[in-house]
Amino acid sequence: MLKVNHLYKSYRSGANVYEVLKDVNFEVKKGEFVAVMGPSGSGKTTLLNCISCFIPCDQGEILLNETDLTGLSQQQLAKVRNEELGFVFQDFMLLDGLTVFENVCIPKVIKEAPYKAMEKKAGKLLEIFGISEIGDKYPAEISGGQKQRTAVARALMNNPLLILADEPTGNLDSKSSEAVIGAFKSAQKQLQATIFMVTHDSFSASYCDRVIVMKDGRIFRELVRTGGRREFMGQLLSVLAAMNGGDGNEPR
Ligand SMILES: Nc1ncnc2c1ncn2[C@@H]1O[C@H](COP(=O)(O)OP(=O)(O)O)[C@@H](O)[C@H]1O
Ligand SMILES: [Mg+2]
Repeated sequence: MLKVNHLYKSYRSGANVYEVLKDVNFEVKKGEFVAVMGPSGSGKTTLLNCISCFIPCDQGEILLNETDLTGLSQQQLAKVRNEELGFVFQDFMLLDGLTVFENVCIPKVIKEAPYKAMEKKAGKLLEIFGISEIGDKYPAEISGGQKQRTAVARALMNNPLLILADEPTGNLDSKSSEAVIGAFKSAQKQLQATIFMVTHDSFSASYCDRVIVMKDGRIFRELVRTGGRREFMGQLLSVLAAMNGGDGNEPR
């Protein structure tokens, strides 16, 4: 599904070069829900923006179903972003002048898809994410959790290969966060969605199948969930603590 090989990215400011991603390698399989964690500044957003092709990388490959995105033209990239990728952002990015239902429809409106099929699809997504009752409300009239579930529904409208989410629960209280993670889990179960999510929050990450922990622009550790959520959260917390200790070893 997604394969990132030897990815490098640096930012230049004047004569200074900041290496942000240094030889990042990983894979996401179809139907997987993967989180990326790591301290602020470790390169998570940069990684996500490279995969989204919002910023160019310096070196390496980003293969989405065998197609290397780093080799595509702007026009081809626009098509990939519209049709193969779905985006969920920390600050929702809903259009204030449109209702929940209309916001969810946006990706299809852009594609000029047939109206009837669009309505049917949007109705189904609203149902899956428990927001049917608020379909006619405007973003200003709904809660943060409802806004983000609307954004998740919108991201799925074109049946993308991959959902990319940057801190989707970053602006939410714990109850709303749980509802949004629940929406991702429903997308995974009912729509076989593949989700790649950057998060600070080990509670949200503990719902994932796998967590990639980044440190200083490299992958520090990958953890696969084998048991229950609570147990996985314990493992995550101990890896994060060990990382902050700086020696890279598990605490004794
Ligand atoms: N556009 C930019 N220009 C210069 N430096 C940047 C830019 N974006 C991010 N950085 C730097 O790159 C590093 C990684 O940032 P980022 O990917 O946002 O990390 P994270 O999402 O893990 O907090 C930070 O040191 C940040 O200051
Ligand atoms: Mg970030």
